[in-house]
Amino acid sequence: MEIRESYNLKESNTFGIKATAQYYAEYANVSELRQVLAWRKENCPYAPLLPIGEGSNLLFTTPTYRGLVIKAAKQSAENVMIADGGRVTVWGGVKMDEFIAWSIRHNLYGLENLSHIPGTVGASAVQNIGAYGTEVSQYIDTVRAIDVETLKERTFDKEECAYAYRDSHFKHHRHWIVTSVTYMLSPTFTPNLKYGNIASLIANQEPTAQEVREAVIAARESKLPDPKVQGNAGSFFMNPIVGIQEYNNLASEYGFVPHYPAPGSGQTKLSAAWLIEQAGWKGRALGNAAVSEKHSLILVNTGRAKGRDVVMLCKAIQNDVRNQFGIDLIPEVNFL
Ligand code: EPU
Repeated sequence: MEIRESYNLKESNTFGIKATAQYYAEYANVSELRQVLAWRKENCPYAPLLPIGEGSNLLFTTPTYRGLVIKAAKQSAENVMIADGGRVTVWGGVKMDEFIAWSIRHNLYGLENLSHIPGTVGASAVQNIGAYGTEVSQYIDTVRAIDVETLKERTFDKEECAYAYRDSHFKHHRHWIVTSVTYMLSPTFTPNLKYGNIASLIANQEPTAQEVREAVIAARESKLPDPKVQGNAGSFFMNPIVGIQEYNNLASEYGFVPHYPAPGSGQTKLSAAWLIEQAGWKGRALGNAAVSEKHSLILVNTGRAKGRDVVMLCKAIQNDVRNQFGIDLIPEVNFL
């Protein structure tokens, strides 16, 4: 375990924003994480702490992150442990997509629709990632996390994780660092093809899990810009949830308004991408940031963006959507 100073984060965030961490450390296991946290308590107890994962959901807004950035060292999905009947515990630093591929190879199902989402197992349990009608929380059994103050590790049951749309207990209580996640996967495969046009992308009427995975990967590749080519952090905003009356008002004015049920709330989830496109932002640039031409929910770094370019673009979009529709778009990406 080594604490590094003035660490270059450009390769550690998928937006490709130039930023430096005051301190940076990687840890291979819980005992090394405890050493890093103990170092912080001893040397800079008030410094902010940022677990970075694959850096696929964050935006550095200043050139220097004044605090300690920590990263769980990458580990192969082969290091997962099967306990019993589909219950699998995975180290937080494993890439989520590698774990999904591993689970399909081992005939354990449920996560196929989340294929190809960047990020680690730990981060996906904080963010409650979702795609094509599946949220990761549906398959999470328990989460282990360590308290940065007491250095004690404990298990959170599903209820304590307080999962909701792109939300969890850990998102609001940042002093918990997720160390591992236990999933409850199914030994039988039941395809979930209800979302949008996903069924039409699969030729086979009774697809295998691998075929669903491949269709999801193809769908994502066709409409989401590759962060290695054009820096981005996936969906920049959350899809707004509104009351039925608000949806009806919009529908009577605009005719077709893409929407989905918001589970459990009796409300409706609108498409932020549609609102942004209607507001005239698809493909438009501001400074060194732009709205992707492929998908209007993705903000991209056009080459030399600083964090503040993306912040300006974000604000301009929020203003226009608020003025046109009276709806506040809330970023999904974490600002630092
Ligand atoms: N649309 C537009 N313009 C566009 C793109 C989309 O008007 O440029 C409209 C279309 O009507 C389309 C609708 O938006 O039918 C929904 O688009 P899409 O199916 O791509 O889904 P999304 O709501 O934009 C969400 C997730 C994605 C996830 C997809 C697929 C959020 C914030 N985003 O996007 O997750 O991959 O569904 O399930 O919920 C991510 O979180 O980073 C992410 C990529």
